[in-house]
Amino acid sequence: MAHNVQVNDLSPLLTDEGQSLLAALRDFNPAQELAIATRLRRDHPAELVSAAIGQARLRQRAVAKFGAEDAYRMYFTPNGVEQATRKSVAEYRAGRFAALGVASVADLCSGIGGDAVALARAGIRVLAVDRDPLTASAVRANAAALGLAELIEVREADVTEIDTSGYDAVFVDPARRGGRGRVFDPEAYSPPLSWAIEAARARPHAALKIAPGIPHELVPDDFDAEWISDEGDVKEAVLWRGARTATAGPAGPGIAATLLPGPRTLTGRGLPDPPVRPVGRYLYEPDGAVIRAHLVAEAAEALNGGLIDETIAYITSDEPHPGTPFATGYEITDVLPFHLKRLKALLRERGVGSLTVKKRGSAVEPEELRRKVKPQGPHSATVFLTRVAGAPAMLIGHPAR
Ligand SMILES: C[S@@+](CC[C@H](N)C(=O)[O-])C[C@H]1O[C@@H](n2cnc3c(N)ncnc32)[C@H](O)[C@@H]1O
Repeated sequence: MAHNVQVNDLSPLLTDEGQSLLAALRDFNPAQELAIATRLRRDHPAELVSAAIGQARLRQRAVAKFGAEDAYRMYFTPNGVEQATRKSVAEYRAGRFAALGVASVADLCSGIGGDAVALARAGIRVLAVDRDPLTASAVRANAAALGLAELIEVREADVTEIDTSGYDAVFVDPARRGGRGRVFDPEAYSPPLSWAIEAARARPHAALKIAPGIPHELVPDDFDAEWISDEGDVKEAVLWRGARTATAGPAGPGIAATLLPGPRTLTGRGLPDPPVRPVGRYLYEPDGAVIRAHLVAEAAEALNGGLIDETIAYITSDEPHPGTPFATGYEITDVLPFHLKRLKALLRERGVGSLTVKKRGSAVEPEELRRKVKPQGPHSATVFLTRVAGAPAMLIGHPAR
């Protein structure tokens, strides 16, 4: 099928003919690909048609990360779309670099340029390095298509061979996918995290993008770690060097959770675990970045709350905190030991037809639960399957107003 054709060169797409094909394919319906390809092949070379259809598909996929305005001007590779930093996160990071007074960045592992573009738009001069020829030609094409060619120099090379001494900062976003899917061991990144750490130490400022699941023990003492979420989804962790703010912890790495859009940043103060207390009127589900950053205690303090169980990251409080961005609040009406039949009866009695199931520390599968309780009726509710003081529990409520 046409979309499986491996395209190894973007240049045919950059010709007038390629550009007009791409424009014609902008809103094409992939379900009609065969018919469209057949029609286009009457007037254009088959290979060019395949390349344009492949690129049009990638652009459609890229809209979710880059927005339509950029995505339909940019060039992608399948891995490039998948691995690129989304625009919101790249813009935020570029803003941090700019705020540090960084004027030039060596972007080591540029991919198709998600970060390079954001850095350049923040007015920063960028050296974009990627060893993959097609990827390097994509970042070059993107710099040109977005009017940033003057700020982005592209080099097709191995990052380990780059002299970064002419740059204020380095940014490294290593490839985290091996032949068999995602790579969890940071030493299996390409390049390995230990290499990136040394590259970072060689410049006054640096940021390394890593998987959000990185164990905190792996954060070196001379770096700060920031977990970033966008619209409630954790996207990445960043190891910063030369970016320490006055609020960072006195010893060891500074820890922060940043929520986009915003940005709203919660900074770690090394607080001890929050106290366990009885479930109050409100339950707060911390944002994933807060949890990954181990800042539940900082969030609990801001909510004047405690934990419902020492091992569970749900915060409870007696007061509403509608302003907090760091946790989503629910008003709780019932706290019961977990019991399926009881839950079913209760929801029936209350006419709950729309049930949101959340869980933390429970083995029950939300889908299975929904199937078993068969919610019916005009009302909605949220049920939390969790543990309260060590015992399986169900908390019923609704989003706090
Ligand atoms: C995660 S992607 C970068 C995504 C990029 N930050 C963006 O937002 O578009 C990693 C890239 O690193 C490149 N890469 C991996 N090892 C490399 C090396 N040793 N030298 C140069 N490039 C490398 C891969 O080709 C891949 O394009």
